[in-house]
Amino acid sequence: MKIDTKIIHAGAEPDPSTGAIMTPIYQTSTYVQEAPGKNKGYEYARSQNPTRTALETALAVLENAEFGLSFSSGVAATDAVIKLLSPGDEVIASNDLYGGSYRLFSKVFEKFGIKFHYVNMADANNVRKYINENTKLFWVETPTNPLMNITDIEAVAAIAKQYKALLCVDNTFASPYLQTPLDLGADIVMHSATKYLGGHSDVIHGCLMMNSEALRDQLYFIQKSCGAVPGPQDCFLVLRGIKTLHVRMQRHCENGEKIAYFLRNHPKVAKVYWCGFEDSPNYAIAKRQMRGFGGMMSFTLQDDSVETATKVLSSTKVFALAESLGGIESLINHPATMTHASIPREERLKNGLSDSLIRLSVGIEDVDDLIEDLNQAIG
Ligand SMILES: Cc1ncc(COP(=O)(O)O)c(C=O)c1O
Repeated sequence: MKIDTKIIHAGAEPDPSTGAIMTPIYQTSTYVQEAPGKNKGYEYARSQNPTRTALETALAVLENAEFGLSFSSGVAATDAVIKLLSPGDEVIASNDLYGGSYRLFSKVFEKFGIKFHYVNMADANNVRKYINENTKLFWVETPTNPLMNITDIEAVAAIAKQYKALLCVDNTFASPYLQTPLDLGADIVMHSATKYLGGHSDVIHGCLMMNSEALRDQLYFIQKSCGAVPGPQDCFLVLRGIKTLHVRMQRHCENGEKIAYFLRNHPKVAKVYWCGFEDSPNYAIAKRQMRGFGGMMSFTLQDDSVETATKVLSSTKVFALAESLGGIESLINHPATMTHASIPREERLKNGLSDSLIRLSVGIEDVDDLIEDLNQAIG
């Protein structure tokens, strides 16, 4: 089956008790057993819930994975992956990554004796000088949030295999419609399903997809033991969101391209970061490993002051000033004070994330309205 058909039918079986075409929201904490240990596969809702099972099946289908696991948020899914490790283990992570992932790594897990190296992975070989016998995990975000840097997933996967370490790819920005990292050799894919998978800015959710049953079992054990599970209503919302992923992504890509070129040609705009420009770094890799370039981008102004950036951020009328991304509506964001405020300033600047950088999540509205809005805000 082609992806558009798979997306609509993934995990969707008519409800066995009524034939309902949409998966019911099984709002229950427990399940009645016929006799001790004799049940229908469901015992207690932290361990299993039928709405979650349907979603996890759908999530696996989307990433060409054997298994999917869903969590109460993207960071909860990330947390589960790091809990595969033990004190003394080391992780090599992208240096330009979501601020919340950086905060979890540096403020929560470092004190449990896990060491993180933040590396510019524009050239995959840059990771080599940080590898030692304790290296157990590579954490790659591509495209990165917010500078849209691209890492060659196949190249890092080959290095990870050579050193028997795991590769987890945060695929939030691309969505499975544009990129499927397991096909490129990754071991685990992570999503903040809060973003493109949910797609409607109405749910916080995270997930992991993988092919190895042993890895699935370890992660399921962590999910069940640590308890960061989603409620059935949230699972339903993500399931419903997924059904239109392909049509939303097509429009995000079309609108994204038009807005990226509009910004690039605007006299008051200095630099636009969008991975679909032919002259953007690693464009050839992006073109090879992605099926489109999406609607995420960031830019700086010629007048590179925080005041001017703040004026633009406060002047849009269609783009809403808000954290998050990947919803149907367009959002404008100031990474330095919003999504990436948890990264120390020196660290941010070192990685090219300036105080005046503006990030856009281009939605699926009429693109002419979006361009007009940005035009009046930039002035
Ligand atoms: C790239 C990326 N990864 C992970 C997360 C964390 O996901 P959540 O907010 O669903 O916990 C986010 C959230 O913004 C993100 O943008």
